[in-house]
Amino acid sequence: MKVFDSHAHLDDNRYDADREEVLERSLRELAGVINPGTDLADSKVAVELARRYDRVWAAVGFHPHEARLMQAGDEARLAELTGEQKVVAIGEIGLDYYYDHSPRDVQQAVLTRQLDLARQLSLPVIIHDRDAHGDIMAIIKREGKGLPGVFHCYSGSLEMAQELIKLGFYVSFGGPLTFGNAVKLQEIARKVPLERVLLETDSPYLTPHPLRGRRNEPMHVRLVAEALAQLRGLPVEAVAEVTTRNVEALFGLSVSQ
Ligand code: NI
Repeated sequence: MKVFDSHAHLDDNRYDADREEVLERSLRELAGVINPGTDLADSKVAVELARRYDRVWAAVGFHPHEARLMQAGDEARLAELTGEQKVVAIGEIGLDYYYDHSPRDVQQAVLTRQLDLARQLSLPVIIHDRDAHGDIMAIIKREGKGLPGVFHCYSGSLEMAQELIKLGFYVSFGGPLTFGNAVKLQEIARKVPLERVLLETDSPYLTPHPLRGRRNEPMHVRLVAEALAQLRGLPVEAVAEVTTRNVEALFGLSVSQ
């Protein structure tokens, strides 16, 4: 079984010159890719890519950076996009207190609205959390009860990961797992149950070691899988097998065509 990149922004304009080639070489190496949306227009592009490529799936939603752009009635527009069979989640949604591109109260309200939407549509959620662990846990517990989902590019503590897993969430690791100074993250990746772990690139960002400094591509998720395999003393094939099955279970999709 091949590795699955559960989070890549293939619609990013850094791929405008060679998107086709990036996708083709990535899909040769991978089981599949999920492209999350960051606002309404971008979600439409993600859905379009999923339509065009066999093993590309999409998620739709407003990223916390773009929370201020969500209009009244956008829930219905997002819901309409989820009519497409290859839309497998609401995301990425969450809180980002590092950049604060949208006011925090707006981020919180928009996150809550989209958790409600996910529940109505019976879809899992893809969560972005940067420097907002306390508030996001409070909102998830209050508004996200029973919703399955993933904390993408996980950055919390081991205790928070264990709590999330109890709530039914998965945690996802990307390029930072390969960084020499990521001791705390590596410790978490060693200890959480592998049955609750996803892998990702967050392309074009967060390029893994030793390729740091270059644009990231989905195929580089292999380096993240190798790092996790080494941390856990497992063959990389075993890590690929379990984490790809986890993607299938969480998002209700099948890579085995
Ligand atoms: Ni992202």
